Amino acid sequence: MKSLKVLPSQIANMIAAGEVVLRPASVVKELMENAIDAGATQVNVIITDSGRSLVQVIDNGVGMSPSDAVLCFERHATSKIATAEDLQEILSYGFRGEALASIAAVSEITLKTRRANDETATQVRVSAGAQAKTSSVSAPVGSSFAVRDLFYNTPARRKFLKSDTVELKHIVEEFTRIAITRPEVAFTLSSNGKEIFSLKSAKSLKYRIQDLLGASMIGELVDVQGESSILKVSGFVGKPDSARKTPGKQYFFVNGRYFRSPYLHKAVMKAYEEMIPEGYTPSYFIFLDIDPKSIDVNIHPTKAEIKFEDDSLVFQILSAMVRETLGRNSFGASIDFDTENVPELPELGRNFSEYRGLSTPTPTFNPEFNPFDSPSETPVSTKPSGGYPSYPRIPDREEDYSRLFEDIPVQKEYNLLIVKGKYILYPVASGIMVVNVPRARERILYDKYLQALAADEPVSQVALFPIQIELDVEQCLLLSEHSGLLTKLGFDLAIEGQNTVVVNGIPESYNPDSGKIEAMIGDILYILSEEGSSLPEIMRQRIAQRFATLGASNAVSLVTKAEAQQLIDTLFASEHAELTASGRKIVSILSVEDIEKLF
Ligand SMILES: Nc1ncnc2c1ncn2[C@@H]1O[C@H](COP(=O)(O)OP(=O)(O)O)[C@@H](O)[C@H]1O
Ligand SMILES: [Mg+2]
Repeated sequence: MKSLKVLPSQIANMIAAGEVVLRPASVVKELMENAIDAGATQVNVIITDSGRSLVQVIDNGVGMSPSDAVLCFERHATSKIATAEDLQEILSYGFRGEALASIAAVSEITLKTRRANDETATQVRVSAGAQAKTSSVSAPVGSSFAVRDLFYNTPARRKFLKSDTVELKHIVEEFTRIAITRPEVAFTLSSNGKEIFSLKSAKSLKYRIQDLLGASMIGELVDVQGESSILKVSGFVGKPDSARKTPGKQYFFVNGRYFRSPYLHKAVMKAYEEMIPEGYTPSYFIFLDIDPKSIDVNIHPTKAEIKFEDDSLVFQILSAMVRETLGRNSFGASIDFDTENVPELPELGRNFSEYRGLSTPTPTFNPEFNPFDSPSETPVSTKPSGGYPSYPRIPDREEDYSRLFEDIPVQKEYNLLIVKGKYILYPVASGIMVVNVPRARERILYDKYLQALAADEPVSQVALFPIQIELDVEQCLLLSEHSGLLTKLGFDLAIEGQNTVVVNGIPESYNPDSGKIEAMIGDILYILSEEGSSLPEIMRQRIAQRFATLGASNAVSLVTKAEAQQLIDTLFASEHAELTASGRKIVSILSVEDIEKLF
């Protein structure tokens, strides 16, 4: 082994940069936090090329002296803590004194700064390893940090950056997290000369959320307030009926600092138990106030995670307070107690004799039921009656599909039966073939989408009377990032302004009912956010699969026998007619023996 050496500071800073500065959004975060720590009431963020060329943050805070303007780029230079005790009572954003040193190690920075009583401003230019160049310039009170050519000297890092839209999305995310915590501070964000946000100083959190995320978000929220001896909780949580499958807006803050916590997320979800369907998530903006001594914000380089002294207690208090809020707003109560007034359902045992002797009981069928909701669904035959049509038991066994059609008699008319638009019964030599229509459609769409995505051939489309849907900035970015893919799948979407999508066309097989379009966009966003960042090859298959499932559940219902026949023909033209892409059975045979067993 070589002998021990203390690392030169430039290398130490580059190593630290690897932890603190992951992407342009990290620079936005650190500079915005410094601006707020400096008491700014106006903070402007200017971005070029999603932060690759420029991240600039201009504030009207206290500014720095000429010597501090140089010193601030030194590692462990901080004005925020002086003693070990200070570390226990941190209320400022920064304190580690390494952000600026780290950023300077991987970029070129120009700082202009002036205090209120100084006549001139100081300009300092630093770049990796080089001596800082100082000069005297004129500039308003406050500080302006311009960070150029991020990662110019670390090509691996630069390569690791995602597309412009993804990087911009991260920037918007960081900007939002900080802007939410300081409603009284005015913020702007512009990208390539275009304004994304212009947030005036707001009277309260509510107005800030409205400016950031749109007025419709406000209507979906209720106040949460509560206090215990160790913890104060405030903010907003979403009404249960506004919970979505799309990952909405979930924010935790502790003592004014954003943090993420899968653990406390569970506490919130627990409060919503039985109020929202599985797989749905409410939005929330939850602020925790707690004695700074009882948390450790120093466990994560960018302070994105927090350690609570007693996290299970925080879990319980938070969950109880959210539950209480929901109960007070009678969402919970109505679900817990309303069963008293629900008319009693007839029990089969008691009423069965009335049905006997009448014509075959019509299977009860829940139109809301979507067999594709749960991927781990049990086969039709073993599902208890209720949601499913009560078909006779279909034995689960392998069928020889290749020989299926050999002995079908030639028919002049369509020799088939459509049941509830959902199943097609088709006579075959050995009995009756039952085709699950949504699954058949899923297979057909999967094949089609996979081909559309692989070749540059979009699937056919129907034009709609344009439908406008309000989204937030991030959702719009997600749609535009994947616009090429969506076009191939047959969608015609246009983004207007920062937060509107106009739906001009949808794939041919989709239901053009305008009432369903908004939910469809929600589903698309959900799929893109989950699958959009996987490797291209895997993504193609997954996207084809997810959109096939979506398309099948969104399809117009099957009415005519001609359509049914066409569906069967197309299905059996597929190489894998028997299974969906997710491996579920499409076709079953009800054999003569099965039928005989019924009697
Ligand atoms: N926008 C700003 N206005 C005034 N002072 C600043 C500003 N940004 C940074 N500083 C000074 O530079 C120091 C170092 O900043 P930084 O490297 O982010 O470390 P930290 O925020 O952890 O103290 C801060 O403690 C502060 O004194
Ligand atoms: Mg800082």
